[in-house]
Amino acid sequence: MTTHEHYLANKRYFEEYAEYQGRYSAEPRFSDRKLIEIVRRRGGGDARRIVDLGCSTGNLLRHLRAAFPGAALLGIDRDANALAFAEKSNRDLGIEFRTADVLDVQLDTKADVVVLNAVSFYFNEADFRRLFAAVAGNLRPGGLVVSFDWHHKYDHQSITMNETSKGHPDGVTYHIRPQRAVTDVLTTAGFADVRFDDFELPVDLPDTEPDAEIVSRTETTVSGKRLCFRGVFFQPWCHVSAIAGPERA
Ligand SMILES: C[S@@+](CC[C@H](N)C(=O)[O-])C[C@H]1O[C@@H](n2cnc3c(N)ncnc32)[C@H](O)[C@@H]1O
Repeated sequence: MTTHEHYLANKRYFEEYAEYQGRYSAEPRFSDRKLIEIVRRRGGGDARRIVDLGCSTGNLLRHLRAAFPGAALLGIDRDANALAFAEKSNRDLGIEFRTADVLDVQLDTKADVVVLNAVSFYFNEADFRRLFAAVAGNLRPGGLVVSFDWHHKYDHQSITMNETSKGHPDGVTYHIRPQRAVTDVLTTAGFADVRFDDFELPVDLPDTEPDAEIVSRTETTVSGKRLCFRGVFFQPWCHVSAIAGPERA
C-alpha cells in the first residue's frame, strides 16, 4: 500500500477532515488566503482555467471561486468519497470535480494555474518528480503552479517520517524536503522562476492535550516568530510557486 492509499483507506479520518474543512467554508484558512494572494501577485489574476490537484472536499476551490469569478474551476482527487462531499457542498458554484490520480492526469484543455494544497508531502522522491512532470504537462507555457507544503531551507536534510496517531493508527508517511531539492525537481520538470514564501500563522493555536488527536499548534519564539507544530514535529510550511516553460516535445 502506498502512503496516500493508507490515507484513502481511513474513512474515519476523512469524516474528521471534512468537519475540519467545513469550519473554513465561509472564511478561508490563512494559508488559502496567502495562496490566493500569490496567484494574483504572480500573474494568475486573469486565469481562465484553474485546477486544484488533491482538492478533497473542495474548500479551497470555493474560495478560488469567490476570488476569480470568471475562471473555469476543476478539482481533482482520487478519493471518490471526498469528491461526492465536494459536489454536494459546492453545488451551484460552477466547479467541476473529477476522480483521478494526480500522477496520471491529462487535461483536455491546459490550465493557466494549478494549485496543490497539502498534497505533495505524501509523495516519495520518484512520485514527487512524476507529480511535477504531470503538473508541467497540464499547464500552458507561462502558466503558474502554487503548492503549499513542507519545504525548508537546509539543503541536505530530507526527512521521511512515518507518523501513527489517533487519526491514522496504521501510520502515514510524510516527506519533508529542502527547498533546494524542490527547486531542482521543478526546474527539471520545465519550470522557471521558482520562489518560496515562508508561511507564518497570524494567530496562536493552543497546545494539544497529550491524549488528544494531533492537530496543528503554535509555539512562539523569543523573537516573536510563530512556529507551527503537529505534536512534537515542526512543520516548515511554505508556498512554492513557479512558471511553466515552453511545451516540451
Ligand atoms: C491533506 S489532504 C489536502 C486536501 C485539500 N487540498 C486541502 O486543502 O485541504 C490531501 C488530499 O490529496 C489527495 N491525494 C493524495 N494522493 C493523491 C493522488 N495520487 N491523486 C489524487 N489525489 C490524491 C487525498 O485524497 C486528499 O484529499
